[in-house]
Amino acid sequence: MTPTVNLDIQQLIDDPAYFAEHAIGVPLWDYQADFARSPARYRVMCAGRQVGKSRVLAVVALHTAYIRANVRVLVISNGEDSSLRVLADCAHLARNSPILNAAVLDDKKQLLTLGNGSTIQSIPASEARARGDSIDLLIVDEAGFISMSLWQAAEPAIVARPGSRVILASTPWGKNDHFFRQKYNEGMTSPSAKLQSWHWPTTASPLADLDLIEDWRRTWSTIKFTTEVLAEWVNEAGAYFTMEELDNAVADYDLLDPKDAHGQLITAGLDWGFSDAHAFVALAVLDDQELNQAVVGDDLIYFIPWLESHHKKPYSWFVNRIEEIGRTYQLMSVVSETNGVGAMPTEVLRNTMQRTKQSKRLDKARWPTRVIPVNTDNRYKASGFGGIKLLLQQGRLILPNHPDLLRQLHNLEYEQTDTGQLRIRVPEAAGHDDIAMALCQAISTADGSVYAYRPDNPRANHRDLITTGTGVRIPKQPSCLNVEHALQRSRGRNKGDGW
Ligand SMILES: Nc1ncnc2c1ncn2[C@@H]1O[C@H](COP(=O)(O)OP(=O)(O)OP(=O)(O)O)[C@@H](O)[C@H]1O
Ligand SMILES: [Mg+2]
Repeated sequence: MTPTVNLDIQQLIDDPAYFAEHAIGVPLWDYQADFARSPARYRVMCAGRQVGKSRVLAVVALHTAYIRANVRVLVISNGEDSSLRVLADCAHLARNSPILNAAVLDDKKQLLTLGNGSTIQSIPASEARARGDSIDLLIVDEAGFISMSLWQAAEPAIVARPGSRVILASTPWGKNDHFFRQKYNEGMTSPSAKLQSWHWPTTASPLADLDLIEDWRRTWSTIKFTTEVLAEWVNEAGAYFTMEELDNAVADYDLLDPKDAHGQLITAGLDWGFSDAHAFVALAVLDDQELNQAVVGDDLIYFIPWLESHHKKPYSWFVNRIEEIGRTYQLMSVVSETNGVGAMPTEVLRNTMQRTKQSKRLDKARWPTRVIPVNTDNRYKASGFGGIKLLLQQGRLILPNHPDLLRQLHNLEYEQTDTGQLRIRVPEAAGHDDIAMALCQAISTADGSVYAYRPDNPRANHRDLITTGTGVRIPKQPSCLNVEHALQRSRGRNKGDGW
């Protein structure tokens, strides 16, 4: 875009839509302009996929930073990735703008500084409570996935400044009393100078491919289509996991990077992607010492210490990645699906794991990782997800606050077959059940009947405890308890399927 000499500076300041068109070179669509121009102190946007929310967030962030010197815009979200993406969008738009191209992005890609000294910064929500200082605009991306406790801790400090403004954006998520859902509803039913809400289904976008959306309506589960396209909270009648059930099991604990695993004991489930993602979900017993005696007695609590999924990577790359994880975690077994495209990579993985052991790259004390092939048929899914459901209800499975995992679990629907069996419907569309299926695989190693007395460990870090909705407590930085036989079940193969 070439610099324009006759820009109307006053209008650039007064009108974000004029700013978008002339300073950034992309006119906003009408509904985006309406949002960008709103003077409401709290703006709440409940939106479907691909409707242009990232774009409008970036424009509003840049406009706010442009119109005054030394303004601070803070972008927070649950996943680090998501807030970084908003910042990357801002940096990209600024680079191509004739009046913002002096903006500088720092090495970590977390801080964009404009020529006038204003900054746009991205940090994970969990660190936001430390930033009580003079924020002019707070943008909360994926707001539905920010826990109530985190929000209650962060909001008063950040929003204390008179004149500071807040944007909450998300696909629909959260129980009835979640702050995002409450604020959204309030802004819809009684909009005010303080609070206004917008509802943007995917179909609102002028770029929306209506044929593709029709395809989704047919192939996706109703729940997935309703939330991610229509941007509505669903009637949960057919949901296998209700939002309440999931929310109650979630805690904002830190995942344990394999780099720092130091031989802690896990098992894992794998889902191989064809055109979609490969997923790896680890399962472990939580080292909770005496913390949860009152809730679960000596029953063990499981949690997910680590998960990852990768798009568009070759099988061989993923096999090597799992082998690498198995060198820092004590990876006892991996349950790997063999239907679909999974048979060949499962075999390669098994050979690789055996070779690793033979090559003595692992120390003597380590077993080779057992690769357990499974055919994930209907019965297997009913048993695996049934196990997850039971553990969730008992407060014995704690989930990380991971939007993709939670969304995928919530997207599962069930129906009764003609023969009276339960059938779990996983959305067919590519790439949208990988993590949920990998968890289903992982949980098949859990033996829910094992219990163990966990004596208090004086070295344990009990600072920063998090309490889930079921009243179970987990340290912010959890560690795994070494109870092999609690992770040695092979469900869905030769033994009984029951729990
Ligand atoms: N005002 C606009 N003019 C032209 N194209 C736009 C505009 N706003 C958004 N787009 C385009 O529409 C697509 C979706 O936009 P964007 O990424 O902002 O949506 P999103 O709702 O954040 O999507 P996702 O759900 O994938 O995060 C992108 O290709 C983007 O370039
Ligand atoms: Mg986006």
